[in-house]
Amino acid sequence: MIKKIVFSGIALAVLLGVFIVARVWLFSPEDGIKRVSIPEGVHDPAEWGKAYPLQYQGYLKNREMAPSPTGFGGSEKTQKAVMEPANLMNFKGMGFSKDYTEDRGHPYALEDLRETERLTPKTTGACMTCKTAQIGGIFKDKGWAYARTPLTDLLPTLKHPITCSNCHDPKTMNLRVMNPAFIEALAKKGIHVRKASRAEMRSYVCGQCHVEYYFEPETYRVVFPWNKGLQPEQMYAYYAEKPAGFTQDWVHPDSQTKMLKAQHPDYETWSTGTHGMAGVACADCHMPFLRESGRKYSSHWVTSPMRTVEESCRTCHTQSKDWLMARVKTTQRHVWDMQLRAGSTVSRAHEAIAKAAADSRVNGAELENARELLRRAQWYWDIVSAENSMGFHNPAQVLNTLGQSVDLAHQAIATANRAVSASHGK
Ligand code: HEC
Ligand code: HEC
Ligand code: HEC
Ligand code: HEC
Repeated sequence: MIKKIVFSGIALAVLLGVFIVARVWLFSPEDGIKRVSIPEGVHDPAEWGKAYPLQYQGYLKNREMAPSPTGFGGSEKTQKAVMEPANLMNFKGMGFSKDYTEDRGHPYALEDLRETERLTPKTTGACMTCKTAQIGGIFKDKGWAYARTPLTDLLPTLKHPITCSNCHDPKTMNLRVMNPAFIEALAKKGIHVRKASRAEMRSYVCGQCHVEYYFEPETYRVVFPWNKGLQPEQMYAYYAEKPAGFTQDWVHPDSQTKMLKAQHPDYETWSTGTHGMAGVACADCHMPFLRESGRKYSSHWVTSPMRTVEESCRTCHTQSKDWLMARVKTTQRHVWDMQLRAGSTVSRAHEAIAKAAADSRVNGAELENARELLRRAQWYWDIVSAENSMGFHNPAQVLNTLGQSVDLAHQAIATANRAVSASHGK
């Protein structure tokens, strides 16, 4: 009798084991979606769509253009200067004063690169690093040499914007990172992207593009300024050491200040925010799980999560949809108000320095101090303004950064005025 019980116990355990193994190896337990091996180099999402129709349908929705449910951001190509006129003064003398639009869906990346008025005959290939799925093949063939090749030479060969292969290994469908700059930036910190966990990859795939970067002089290699850390102060300190001789993105024509242009630091800002610190990945909010006939799959409509509050937020939060929407909007309104104040104070600092510089009795050393204060003030404003969530990814830090910007811009104005009035007394 006891023998029988033991025997059937063992038999049950073996059966269960076989069942688990079968689930794991044969039927992909995560989502029940059958993996199909697609050859490397196939970038047309329609080809991938034959094997993965639900994800492809979602991807196609990225072409939809609509205002954001919060009133900030959105998927339409509107000029940012309409809402924030300080951009025109603060980016004077460089492309972003001519053309600086709100971002829209991934399928538009290449089209928007081709059309931007920021392109000049001198624009280099480095600019396409984050705009096309073909980057992997190009880097394999040419290494970093592509980065200094004129963009006009490369553009005719580019057919595919950001598509499936930017984020997926076509053979296994595992997540992967393609941008060599991201892999190098993490390697410098002792992190190997290829060893990353699935949870980390759910943010790394986005972090490869949604980050601050600069082009190294001469080589045009794309580099992330992360050696000292990912916060605005730490990135500024990194730039202050003139890495590889990099001193500025451009010189402002009025204030003659050597300026930095900040680029979309969504990853950096998120990383030290409430959600980033709690391990909530970009994909948790921006690519939430959906269900279709009982099957779980990831939304591939990568847009404002406030369009899908139920799936994006209420998986963790018990508050109502209206409450969450109101919290997000409140944060964004506070940030927007401070961002406008910082931007316009920075503009006034450019004017004050230009005015002081035109005075023949100006104290040159004081004027240089004013320029350094302005350079920092604008960096602190721009690193928030260029971020895409209007503060949501890290409300407390972003408001602190804007506060520093306003303070520094006022100091720049006072120093410029003193540079003239002090010498008037002499
Ligand atoms: C911007 C990056 C990105 C792009 C582009 C992208 N995916 Fe994904 N995909 C993800 C992420 C993130 C997941 C979730 C993976 C995980 O949690 O392991 C995912 C999951 C999947 C899965 C696994 C099942 C699921 O839905 O969770 C399939 C299949 C898939 N994607 C197909 C596609 C196809 C087909 C395309 C192109 C039409 C595509 N993906 C484009 C990021 C991307
Ligand atoms: C290969 C680079 C690249 C990758 C990878 C990438 N993005 Fe983007 N993303 C961009 C670019 C470039 C744009 C702007 C495209 C345009 O405006 O033409 C953009 C736009 C967006 C937008 C704005 C869409 C809208 O409707 O306004 C969101 C949201 C976004 N990305 C989130 C993500 C998330 C989340 C991930 C990871 C799952 C990710 N991105 C991965 C480069 C990338
Ligand atoms: C906790 C949820 C959450 C996480 C995690 C998160 N985001 Fe967001 N993100 C938001 C919200 C909310 C907004 C504001 C949307 C709006 O105003 O409609 C936003 C806005 C954005 C936008 C601008 C969208 C637009 O309409 O132009 C981009 C781009 C973006 N996030 C990228 C990222 C990236 C990259 C990561 C990871 C590094 C990330 N987000 C992590 C919630 C999140
Ligand atoms: C994977 C879980 C998860 C998801 C998804 C998530 N959150 Fe959170 N959220 C948290 C955690 C954890 C905290 C920290 C406080 C706490 O424990 O409640 C938090 C805090 C917040 C806070 C207060 C702190 C702050 O930074 O303002 C707000 C507001 C918030 N979340 C809104 C949202 C919205 C809106 C979304 C969807 C776009 C969202 N969350 C998606 C887990 C999540």
